Amino acid sequence: MSLPDSSARWLVTGAAGQLGRSLLAIAADRGIEAVGCTHAELDVADPAAVRAALDRIEPGVVLNAAAFTQVDLCEQETEAALRVNAHAPGVLAEACRDRGQPTLLVHVSTEYVFSGETPRPIPEDADTAPLSAYGRGKLAGEQAVRDSGAEHLIARTQWLFGPGPNFVRTILAAAGRGQALRVVEDQIGRPTWSRSLAEGLVSAVRGGLRGTLHLACEGVCSWYDLAREIVREGAARGLTGTVGVDPIPTREMPRPAVRPAYAVLALDRSRAAGIHMPHWRDALAAYLDEERSARGG
Ligand SMILES: NC(=O)c1ccc[n+]([C@@H]2O[C@H](COP(=O)([O-])OP(=O)(O)OC[C@H]3O[C@@H](n4cnc5c(N)ncnc54)[C@H](OP(=O)(O)O)[C@@H]3O)[C@@H](O)[C@H]2O)c1
Repeated sequence: MSLPDSSARWLVTGAAGQLGRSLLAIAADRGIEAVGCTHAELDVADPAAVRAALDRIEPGVVLNAAAFTQVDLCEQETEAALRVNAHAPGVLAEACRDRGQPTLLVHVSTEYVFSGETPRPIPEDADTAPLSAYGRGKLAGEQAVRDSGAEHLIARTQWLFGPGPNFVRTILAAAGRGQALRVVEDQIGRPTWSRSLAEGLVSAVRGGLRGTLHLACEGVCSWYDLAREIVREGAARGLTGTVGVDPIPTREMPRPAVRPAYAVLALDRSRAAGIHMPHWRDALAAYLDEERSARGG
């Protein structure tokens, strides 16, 4: 089957989420015709609804930004999480595969498919070993896409911040209340702006990449490093006050879902493909500038 051309229409699922919103904004900038479907408009786990949407919208690219992303809740609401994270990617992939015209599925996954036990960046073909229900569900979703025979790109990313609830907004709000912060210093990753991810995904699709791809901002830090930077840069923009941030080990903040400790995605494949992601500090600064503008600052 031939490839969708660069003028192909995109369908973005989970369109009200962080990545969904960023993708629709980037698509408009890049001259891509993109149709967004929110959860209320399209339940990606419903095969009949998915097939009807594909028939109606006739996309060349389906970008699945829908997911159950509340990692701790996944431990409790296992069935609901699996429906979206494990089952729905297969539903989308089979619907794309069965269409009469080339339809690429771009599916977004996570560093939680890895255990993060080794302090080295993780390449795409590393062994997976999820530690949580969220990670197991997302891994099953990846596998369903691979097994479907659909033309696909699975993009794993991590530590997203964008237009929605996220760690940056949580820290800004807590610091704004004058609350001293205790933040884990022994989980390491790559904070990634959803806008940068959206730009990277457009480049990856236009570059014809297929298979599995790691896509995240450059640079590596702990949640503690990130929190300090958010407070410093947020205060400099009048978005929050200045508060102390103390480092703590993960064992002092137990959560229902076990997090990978060193889940740094290796970026060699995306770099070699010419996809240049910004450093997380630059992405964070640009994001905070946007947050200030949105608040009329
Ligand atoms: N956030 C992160 O730090 C992070 C890190 C690594 C990877 N990822 C992956 O990146 C992708 C995008 O994440 P995000 O942060 O943009 O997520 P998000 O902001 O939580 O957005 C997810 C969207 O999916 C929608 N959704 C949930 N169930 C659905 C269903 N059955 N049908 C259609 N839509 C449904 C949600 O709608 P409702 O809220 O109305 O249910 C929400 O709008 C996901 O695949 C996620 O696993 C995220």
